[in-house]
Amino acid sequence: MIIAVDGPAASGKGTLTERLAAHFDLARLDTGLIYRAVGAKILRDNDNPEDPVVAVAAARALCFTDLKQDGLRLEEAGLAASRVAALPDVRAVLLAFQRDFAACPPNGKMGAVLDGRDIGTVVCPDAHHKLFLMASADVRAMRRYKELQARGAEAIYARILRDIKERDTRDMSRSAAPLEPATDAFVLDTSDLDTDEVFSAALRYINPQNS
Ligand code: DC
Repeated sequence: MIIAVDGPAASGKGTLTERLAAHFDLARLDTGLIYRAVGAKILRDNDNPEDPVVAVAAARALCFTDLKQDGLRLEEAGLAASRVAALPDVRAVLLAFQRDFAACPPNGKMGAVLDGRDIGTVVCPDAHHKLFLMASADVRAMRRYKELQARGAEAIYARILRDIKERDTRDMSRSAAPLEPATDAFVLDTSDLDTDEVFSAALRYINPQNS
């Protein structure tokens, strides 16, 4: 079973896919981490994430353990990720990594849930189930703000909102695999839903006969 979950930053993809993976005993891949790992490596080397030669080399060098490094969740890594993700050659290199994961999920799992921006449209267009989560930019910025505060990290709401809007614009307007729902995706606005309600709605969509 392959489940694709797409949507903009802080729309609730991570929490939902963790719960779906546990519920259906699936492997889980947060594909944003892949782009974050590439972006973070370039920032560490003081290079430019928009330079295609640099970014493609970083993407080719990516290995699975890079996804476990600290700091990938920081806003700087997210912005760098969004910049490398706009480069078609980088996306082409990372496509194989994601498709291999879906085709041969690790640890003997019988399927996978992947979350990102283009899973339902490009990475796994034949996924059995496709969800597209959305929420207003204000709601998403407030979620990020509270998350950072809870972790004791520095958080300035206005800056988070600005960064989220900047990423939305770049992710939606790029020519290569822009952020958009697949035509056959179940689109769910999570603005007024808590995590349990999002999970229940996803289960109703995946297993309509059980609801
Ligand atoms: O989901 P995230 O916030 O961790 O993603 C970080 C950036 O990576 C996001 O702004 C766009 C890019 N990305 C992408 O282009 N395609 C994906 N499948 C996943 C992420």
